[in-house]
Parts: sequence; structure tokens; C-alpha cells
Amino acid sequence: MYHSTYVTCLNTSAMLHISIIIYCLIVVASQSPEHDHGDSRKMNDDPAEQLFVRMFMKRRTEQLAAVKRLLAIDSYEKQYKMVSVIAEKVFSVIKSSRVTLESLGYIPGISAFPKDEDTLDALANILENTALFGDILLRLPDISHKILISKHEWEVSLQWSLGFSNQTHLLDKQTQKLVYLASQEINVTERNPNYLNPYSKIHKQKHDKQQSPEQNVAKKKKMKKHKKGPRMSSGTFTGDL
Ligand SMILES: *[C@@H]1O[C@H](CO)[C@@H](O)[C@H](O)[C@H]1NC(C)=O
Ligand SMILES: *[C@@H]1O[C@H](CO)[C@@H](O)[C@H](O)[C@H]1NC(C)=O
Repeated sequence: MYHSTYVTCLNTSAMLHISIIIYCLIVVASQSPEHDHGDSRKMNDDPAEQLFVRMFMKRRTEQLAAVKRLLAIDSYEKQYKMVSVIAEKVFSVIKSSRVTLESLGYIPGISAFPKDEDTLDALANILENTALFGDILLRLPDISHKILISKHEWEVSLQWSLGFSNQTHLLDKQTQKLVYLASQEINVTERNPNYLNPYSKIHKQKHDKQQSPEQNVAKKKKMKKHKKGPRMSSGTFTGDL
């Protein structure tokens, strides 16, 4: 139905050899729409819109797997390089898709669900790339902030795309939370008093100081266990994928 490009194929060889990073062009296959019971988003009756949301959620699952592989890299330099390359691609896609949507007159939250492929492609590109970078921002906050600070244009682009994505009303509940958390992480939305990012260095340092080494070891074990299954509460980011 629609095609969209985004970065997700972070395969093992790309991890080992940064120079061979592979981007995938994923062609979304047509599927018959079904009702999605796991999504509490108010569903529109439009089958095309239902299909769009389903495809988006499927893509999110793939993206989370890719982000897990990124987190598994044990070298800061390699992770930094990977995030830089991903950011380059993500923000380039967001930028061109924004131009397309604006030229086609799509206004999130106001325009009806689009019928033409160009608008659908651009819309899918923005939502997917925003969510992907949001995942990376939350899990690798120190690297991500460093990169965003070095490239102000990207930070502005991210602020825009988070707001845009939120306004489309096309996000599943999980991605809505992600957008909310990412907005707090970059302070474009005021932080909930309970907001904390367990992946940030500052947070880790605070905890390491307050606790004895034994407690830290126990906590690390616990955190490892936690890293399974999606779990994000709306106010706080628990760090789980
Ligand atoms: C998302 O939109 C709602 C209103 O539709 C608004 O209250 C909220 O602040 C927005 N969140 C973000 C992260 O932009
Ligand atoms: C966001 O604001 C908090 C304090 O409210 C600050 O500690 C943090 O460094 C800020 N982060 C960014 C990315 O601006």
C-alpha cells in the first residue's frame, strides 16, 4: 500500500564494521486490515487508517529489536558513530518528508486521513523515524544529547517531529508514551516531577553514590532482568524495551 524508508537494519556485521552500515528499504506489503485489540487508541472506521496504524505498530516492533542490538554494542565509540549515522539519516528523511507534507497541505489533527501515496509515505516516514530516534534518545541519552547539541538543526527538527507525531492521533498508546517521554527528555515538554531516565549518566552516578557496591550489583542484576518486555509508565521511563 505504501512504501517507506527508514533505518532499522542494524545487523551484526554493521555493528562490527561501522563502515558497512546497511540501510534497508522496506516495502510494506499489503495486508487485509483487522481490528487491533491491543491498541486503546480510538479507532477510526477507515480501513486504510487501521491498516496504516497496524503497519506502524509492526514497524515499531522491528525498530525496538534494532535498538536492542544497538544497546548491545559494548564500545562507546562505536555506539556514538552508529547513533550519528542513524541521526543523519533520520533527520534527512524527516526534513524531506516534512517538505512533502507541507507542499501537499497535510495538517496533523485537522486533515482527513490521506488517500494518496505521497502523503502516506511522508507521514509514515516521519512517524517511524521520530519514534526510532525517540527510542535511541531515551536509551542512549548521553550520546544522543551530545549529537543534538552538535547539530542544532536536528534538535529543532526533533522538537517539531515529536509535536507533529503527537498531533496526528495515529500513534498507538505505547508510542504516545514514547513521544511524551522523549519530549520530556529534550525539555520541549516540562518534565514530570517523577521523570527520570535510568540510562542517563547523571542518574547512574547519583545512584552509584547513594548505594553500596553490593546494592549496585544487586540492582544491576535486577535491571538486566527488567530489560525484557515493554514497560513504560506514562510519567517515568523505566528503561525497559
Ligand atoms: C500531545 O497533544 C496533547 C493534546 O492533544 C497535549 O496536551 C500534549 O502536551 C502533547 N504532548 C506532546 C509531547 O507534544
Ligand atoms: C532538561 O532540564 C533539566 C532540569 O529541569 C536539566 O537537568 C537537563 O539537563 C535538561 N536537559 C536538556 C537536554 O536540556
